[in-house]
Amino acid sequence: MIKKCLFPAAGYGTRFLPATKSMPKEMMPVVNKPLIEYGVDEAIQAGMTNMCIVSGRGKHSLMDHFDKNYELEHQIEGTSKEPLLDDVRGLINSASYTFIRQSEMKGLGHAILTGRDLVGNEPFAVVLADDLCINPESGVLEQMVNLFKQFRCSIVAVEEVPEDQAHKYGVISGSKISEDLYRVEDMVEKPEPGTAPSNLAIIGRYILTPDIFDILEHTEPGKGGEIQITDALLEQAKSGCVIAYRFKGKRFDCGSVDGFIEATNYCYENVYNK
Ligand code: UTP
Repeated sequence: MIKKCLFPAAGYGTRFLPATKSMPKEMMPVVNKPLIEYGVDEAIQAGMTNMCIVSGRGKHSLMDHFDKNYELEHQIEGTSKEPLLDDVRGLINSASYTFIRQSEMKGLGHAILTGRDLVGNEPFAVVLADDLCINPESGVLEQMVNLFKQFRCSIVAVEEVPEDQAHKYGVISGSKISEDLYRVEDMVEKPEPGTAPSNLAIIGRYILTPDIFDILEHTEPGKGGEIQITDALLEQAKSGCVIAYRFKGKRFDCGSVDGFIEATNYCYENVYNK
């Protein structure tokens, strides 16, 4: 039912400099697979077939990764190394990949708005590939798609975070619908220490209804001078409905060095086929 998945991947990745000076953060490998591939895997598992990637200057490798590399493929054809390309070939054959450039980094909300022409007028998913989510039974996007069938409104994935970490996230508050579901009533982007409305932080998985684009068109720059998706979602919550979902699974903030190392160790032990 939800076929398109948008990957905002135009950010500068400053927390990972100098590695990200000329390499997109989304291409950093966790063990032997770039972050973007984990995100695409999750989207395909959730039934999506159109990957819409918002990239920026110097991010050609993202495009190349989802294309054939004839020279390399010819070189390893028939050798024991050929199966190493099986996974990515599978992803290339299972979905289409379209790219658009965000020419100015005006924030996540602006990156999502940049993807409007690729998405069109239908509900879509958003994956921030630097948030690596692992749940072997059912990926986080799949869990959210199932909820969308029930609620038919925008859904954000949330996670409980310690109070001293809340200032790094968009934080929601709302009324509890059931054990893991909240109807959003308030949302604050990167709250000042001690002012977070709850300990439920938004992580990099969203299902959005397409009216979000009209809202983003008039959303003023917010925290940090950037167009914030949380501001647009709060407007949507106030005029309609936004659901927050405490997802099942593990999440690693691979945009930070500590999260990236943690993800690498976890994936090497539990995900990687040794
Ligand atoms: P982040 O703030 O985590 O990513 O944005 P960043 O800006 O690349 O990283 P740091 O903080 O400087 O280390 C969340 C997501 O939104 C995308 C980023 O690529 C990331 O996936 N983004 C952010 C854009 O695509 N465009 C923007 O203008 C801002």
